[in-house]
Amino acid sequence: MPLDQAPTLARPSIEAGLHVLPQTRQLRALHTVVRDRSASRVDFVHYSGRIIRLLLESALDLLPFAPRSVETPVGRAYEGLAFAEHICGVSVIRAGESMEGELRAIIPGVRIGKILIQRDKVTKTPKFYYQNLPADIAGRQVLLLDPMLATGGTAVAAVDLLLQQGVAEENIVFVAFIAAPEGVTVLASRFPKLRIVASAIEERLNQNAYMLPGIGDFGDRYFGSPV
Ligand code: URA
Repeated sequence: MPLDQAPTLARPSIEAGLHVLPQTRQLRALHTVVRDRSASRVDFVHYSGRIIRLLLESALDLLPFAPRSVETPVGRAYEGLAFAEHICGVSVIRAGESMEGELRAIIPGVRIGKILIQRDKVTKTPKFYYQNLPADIAGRQVLLLDPMLATGGTAVAAVDLLLQQGVAEENIVFVAFIAAPEGVTVLASRFPKLRIVASAIEERLNQNAYMLPGIGDFGDRYFGSPV
């Protein structure tokens, strides 16, 4: 197999709205650093940031563009495109906050909302704790930021919350660092118009709902706590 062709990991059956980054050698090298259990936190933050930048550019590519013509320095017209407008990021606390800096670096001044939904240890169901969203979110293109799409439970609750706020399903792009087939299937079957962007699809979940081969606890590794 040529080096630049990644082995195809198990893919979910529902793929319509799923966009997986091209598995280039560069991306695989970035993944190799962050998946290494002995990676330092500095390396984890730096190299996952580079992957997040690729994910966000790919997610932005799914938004609506308008035609825009400009004149080049040599006097010719270039029939190009104007970036999508009315964008906002919504991060799922805590791991989703790791994506905010890269989004701000791409779109300075972008609006960012926050949601806190956590799995209840007793009922095992997602529990809503907090939201702080732009007042005009219903009219925006929303990048929903949550790096680990595992079982899909939190993701479904987060999308439901955005729909309750009046955001159109087709105006939401779920940005996941890595995703499990189980989570993609749950999310895509519940929300067929939702788009999902991920840098890799994992093989499966283990008995503790961690992805395999996986990356471990993304939030703990990125923020350095509680480890
Ligand atoms: N959350 C994580 O941080 N990692 C996983 O593998 C699954 C959920």
